[in-house]
Amino acid sequence: MSIGRILVAAVISSLAVAWSASAEEKAPASAGKAVYERDCAQCHGSQGKGDGEEAVYVTPQPQDFTTGVLDKQTDEFLASVIAKGGLANGLPESMPAFPKLSKSEIQGVVAYIRQLGKASGKKATPAPDAGRR
Ligand code: HEC
Repeated sequence: MSIGRILVAAVISSLAVAWSASAEEKAPASAGKAVYERDCAQCHGSQGKGDGEEAVYVTPQPQDFTTGVLDKQTDEFLASVIAKGGLANGLPESMPAFPKLSKSEIQGVVAYIRQLGKASGKKATPAPDAGRR
């Protein structure tokens, strides 16, 4: 094989990897939307702002996810909060556990709330001084 062919093959395969990775990122978030709207939006709000209709009945109230708070947390932590609830993870007890959700539903809803967190557009990557305000 000539060096040119090897290069062409390498470029094609890396493009394929990049494409499938971005397709994978999108799929769980759209599946997670249905879970979110059924199980989470009543507290966290349809846009993740913490203003769902039940939010006023829980103390403390859900945070506004669109301020970038989730950017500091790992996927593993967020998945654990959702599966096991706030109390088991050092967060308020008012965040319930969702043992009924499958692993892939949890992955989807994590991807979806991360997307809500970025939907405001202002903080795709948090500024180094985020949190100092
Ligand atoms: C009964 C109201 C309620 C429901 C329903 C609810 N949450 Fe929560 N959630 C809370 C409260 C209160 C907190 C603690 C304050 C905070 O961190 O926003 C919380 C915290 C969280 C956190 C931690 C955020 C952080 O501070 O790092 C995640 C992630 C989360 N919820 C996701 C979900 C998902 C996903 C669902 C649906 C499967 C859901 N919640 C359903 C009330 C609720």
